[in-house]
Amino acid sequence: MSTAEFEQSVVVLEEEFSTPAQRGPVELEARDVSVWFNTRKVLEGVNLQFPKNTVTALIGPSGCGKSTFIRTLNRLHELLPGAALAGEVLYEGEDIYGPTKDPVHIRLNIGMVFQKPNPFPSMTIRGNVLSGLKLSGMKRSNHDEIVEQTLTSAGLWNEVKDRLGHAAGELSGGQQQRLVIARALAVQPHVLLMDEPCSALDPASTLKIEETIRELSKEITIVIVTHNMQQAVRVADYTAFFLAAENEPGHVVEQGRTTEIFGNPQDQRTLDYVNGRFG
Ligand SMILES: Nc1ncnc2c1ncn2[C@@H]1O[C@H](COP(=O)(O)OP(=O)(O)O)[C@@H](O)[C@H]1O
Ligand SMILES: [Mg+2]
Repeated sequence: MSTAEFEQSVVVLEEEFSTPAQRGPVELEARDVSVWFNTRKVLEGVNLQFPKNTVTALIGPSGCGKSTFIRTLNRLHELLPGAALAGEVLYEGEDIYGPTKDPVHIRLNIGMVFQKPNPFPSMTIRGNVLSGLKLSGMKRSNHDEIVEQTLTSAGLWNEVKDRLGHAAGELSGGQQQRLVIARALAVQPHVLLMDEPCSALDPASTLKIEETIRELSKEITIVIVTHNMQQAVRVADYTAFFLAAENEPGHVVEQGRTTEIFGNPQDQRTLDYVNGRFG
């Protein structure tokens, strides 16, 4: 076999054995996204692709623009006072900021889970799961099925199936976060954005949520902001490292497969950050 043939066969083998998570089309893409609050530029020229059914971790020190960036991905950014944006966010190939796009519809396809679990505490567990559906006016009749399915996907069903009529406020923080994930799933999003979903949770709940994320990524595309480096390694197929120098807007220093970013980063700043030397 010639060298060229050998190399060719290696390529074929790699393609054959790469997992689905490593392939697939791009579902969501930020193109040259820059962000301002009033006259202050806080993000500069972010280009990131999120392949379908993968998990991407956004990492970087506080204040570098991770939350701001993730909010641009489903048009939550524009709700903040003084917010402005340049660039494009393509969802299934179309700019979500296009003139014909409805932000409410965008947010049904691209859901968000925040740092602090935010269920409606006095509403029942079941009511919480269905609340997004009701608010959005989506008509789906099989409510029992939706409740069981989404709570199962969120890793909470076994813990709550006998008390669906109890108030959500009775649940622990970790359970509330999984309930909120179930609520987000009930509207059948294709993308789930998560901004530090575990930072207010204990280690056991954190691991449950991580399992849930891995399981969900078989069906949907996930973008997660995390300050927990082990978490990024455990859950994310891809990682993007954000950084903002003093008085400069944040930008992406490096992005790639999580194994590369943590095992063999190309930029010294990435190496220092992932090894806990700053941030
Ligand atoms: N609503 C806002 N109004 C004005 N400035 C903001 C607002 N939200 C965030 N910022 C500023 O934008 C920068 C990025 O913040 P943020 O996206 O929250 O960073 P991170 O999530 O990485 O910690 C910070 O300098 C922050 O002060
Ligand atoms: Mg943040």
